[in-house]
Amino acid sequence: MRTSFASDNFSGVHPTVMAAIERANQGHAMAYGEDEYTASVLEHFRRHFGEDTRAYPVFSGTGANVLSIQAATRPFNAVVCADTAHIHVHETGAPEKHAGVKLIALPTPAGKLTPDDVTPTLDVFGFEHAAQPKVVSISQATELGTVYTPEEVRALADFAHGNGLLLHMDGARLSNAAASLGTSLREITRDAGVDVLSFGATKNGTLCAEAVVFFDPALAEGFDYVRMQGTQLASKMRFLSAQFEALLEDDLWREMAAHANAMARRLEAGLRDAGVEIVFPVESNAVFPRLPKERIEPLRQAFYFYTWDEDEGIVRLMASFDTTEADVDAFVSLVAEG
Ligand SMILES: Cc1ncc(COP(=O)(O)O)c(C=O)c1O
Repeated sequence: MRTSFASDNFSGVHPTVMAAIERANQGHAMAYGEDEYTASVLEHFRRHFGEDTRAYPVFSGTGANVLSIQAATRPFNAVVCADTAHIHVHETGAPEKHAGVKLIALPTPAGKLTPDDVTPTLDVFGFEHAAQPKVVSISQATELGTVYTPEEVRALADFAHGNGLLLHMDGARLSNAAASLGTSLREITRDAGVDVLSFGATKNGTLCAEAVVFFDPALAEGFDYVRMQGTQLASKMRFLSAQFEALLEDDLWREMAAHANAMARRLEAGLRDAGVEIVFPVESNAVFPRLPKERIEPLRQAFYFYTWDEDEGIVRLMASFDTTEADVDAFVSLVAEG
């Protein structure tokens, strides 16, 4: 398949990451994370996020979300999220099944929750007939490509903590958000009050590497067991760790994410010039144009992408670390041809 705009996980693996996997493929190593690659990568997580950070590599973003939520809740709890949240719409009820929680999904204008949105969900506190809210979960960047500022995250964290809740961040695209804001990974997570993070790398040029990251060691207590029971403990963990190593030891994470973001902005500019409406602010690597409905299928034949809202003719275009200016310009020219 030629380059597509379907998703950042349609892209391949960055050569530096592939080389790191290859380097890790030497002889035998201790299994289940007792290897030297994992020791080194946990050190990188501590360097990026703070000394007492506890990071746990896992296989998938869904796994990271489910286990983060499980660690932060009991089965009578509820998790408040946006109604566009991946945990709500695209995880086949995995958080409900595995953590046993109820999700309370709230409408938002562009995928971002505010304390005011969450407030009414707390009315049930102390009422034994209702699931008790315990976690606010936000996606950074959001599923609509928007980004929370550090102040917006802090406001939600203060609100959550003030009400006895925890803040979970689905950071499947955390690197895109940090690159977009020009911040470190830490400034928009730990320093902004996030308690537990699903840190995503798969959508940013790795083969398969995600992690659950705790900023309070007390929250991580027993998580070794949660991860194993939750089927997310990699026996050959050195290969997950090697991927994180490639991403985190220098600034490859930022380089790739910044490139994807820049390609999204180029798409946005080109499409706007061609008279196309862009529905949500382009703040990371996603662009949501409204296209004439009859144009969608022919364009999809040229560059694969997903329709977001069929009735409205809104499609989702995702840029990746390997999207080129030529890809973007070719797509924009096709749209402009009319
Ligand atoms: C915001 C967000 N969170 C989590 C995930 C889950 O990742 P995975 O497909 O690795 O389970 C995705 C994947 O599309 C996502 O977009």
